[in-house]
Amino acid sequence: MSFNKYFRIKPISAYHSDIKSSELNRSLGKWELTAIGVGAVIGGGIFVLTGVAANLYAGPALALSFILAGIGCLFAALCYAEFASILPVSGSAYAYSYGTMGELFAWFIGWNLILEYMMGATTVAVSWSKYFVKLLHLAGVSNIPLWLVNDPFTANEEAAKLGLAPFPFAINLPAGLIVWLVTWILYRGIKESAKVNNTIVALKVAAVLFVIGVGVFYIDPSNWHPFIPERVTDAAGGHHYGWSGVLTAAGIVFFAFIGFDAVSTQSQEAINPTKHIPFAIIASLIICTSLYILVSMVLTGMVNYKKIDLGAPVASAFDAAGLSWASLLITIAAVIGLISVMLVMLLSQTRIFFNMAKDGLLPPKLFAAIHPIHKTPWKSTLLLGAVASVVAAVTPIEKATKMTSIGTLFAFAMICGAVLILRRKEPGLYRPYKVKNIQLVAPLGIAFNLLLMCSLDTATWIRFVVWSFIGLLLYFMYSARHSNLNNNQ
Ligand code: ALA
Repeated sequence: MSFNKYFRIKPISAYHSDIKSSELNRSLGKWELTAIGVGAVIGGGIFVLTGVAANLYAGPALALSFILAGIGCLFAALCYAEFASILPVSGSAYAYSYGTMGELFAWFIGWNLILEYMMGATTVAVSWSKYFVKLLHLAGVSNIPLWLVNDPFTANEEAAKLGLAPFPFAINLPAGLIVWLVTWILYRGIKESAKVNNTIVALKVAAVLFVIGVGVFYIDPSNWHPFIPERVTDAAGGHHYGWSGVLTAAGIVFFAFIGFDAVSTQSQEAINPTKHIPFAIIASLIICTSLYILVSMVLTGMVNYKKIDLGAPVASAFDAAGLSWASLLITIAAVIGLISVMLVMLLSQTRIFFNMAKDGLLPPKLFAAIHPIHKTPWKSTLLLGAVASVVAAVTPIEKATKMTSIGTLFAFAMICGAVLILRRKEPGLYRPYKVKNIQLVAPLGIAFNLLLMCSLDTATWIRFVVWSFIGLLLYFMYSARHSNLNNNQ
């Protein structure tokens, strides 16, 4: 077997036959696709991470961090949009790299997309669990055992803080159960999922607009001064505030943008994928960036950055303003709204598995089996639900967040490279959507995403290397041998 086989490329013509033979329902219009993007993007990032980012790093300049992270994502979004218009298939970055950079790269990206979608969904499930517990408290249900709503590491950390003995057993039950609820919705089918998603997205956007529309009347402009607080170094040598703090915060709030690319995984269910997918990717990114900038201005205007709550910053800002009824409404919207993020992420994950199985890189009987009535990849949906629920029940949130980010940043950088390679290799290819100044946009996208990867800690890098090694092992042991391209050659 030649070494070159690992870099064999799936011909563009093969994608076109995949598109024609798609067994999935084509039921999604451009606004439903945009709703999927917005549904995947607005979540734990804006509702939770804004607290840490403003309080510890950016201060009132949090909006600048959102602008920086948004610009970086825009480069990747433009490249995704071009690819999605050429290859309107549901495999996202995996499929695009198979058509350009070769099988091994494609597998490697597909493997890392598991970090983006499955780990992303588990991160949000853990955030959801925190809001759910807060809601129970607001409803008067207290004394919930710590070991029932926390992973084992967090439960024992909390126990130590309270001077309690370590728990012999702990599980984040709400996080595990919410994953199963979402799995059941997905199992029932895409049209039902889109309807549920549209309703939740409307509620979530309404809540964010409510925060902006009501919160604006409670802004004290003195909270914005100084806009970029002077840089300080803590006792452990860590830096806060100043321009470097704004950059660190940009790395943190990057998580808030993850998900716009999920739109591209819906291509085989889109009514007019070549036009509507690029539209939905860019529209959802613009909508979310605008909302994030406004929310961060309102939040840092309502509360001094030093007093911003780290757990539920948005709801707590309204508590501080004496609007406890508004805090309750926001908590309810967050509890419902975070469900749509999980919905889109798990949906996208099954579609990537589906494409990889169709190409022979994963066992097709498991990952490409379509339900005769619901027309969904049901076996893969149930398997994913089982794995994601266990991971959500036992993993601390900060570890899940960082793994999600490193996998996503890697996929974004690779996709920027892939779009440039395809321009050179197939300059005459019909591109319904073409990025202007790609010679500038793609390298900037690669540089920005690699830079953010480098800002993540060593432990995350070690986990990323181990994860990648396992992925490569699976590729050589199974995928390279079962690839459909073996038969074609
Ligand atoms: N962008 C998504 C969120 O903020 C992942 O939860």
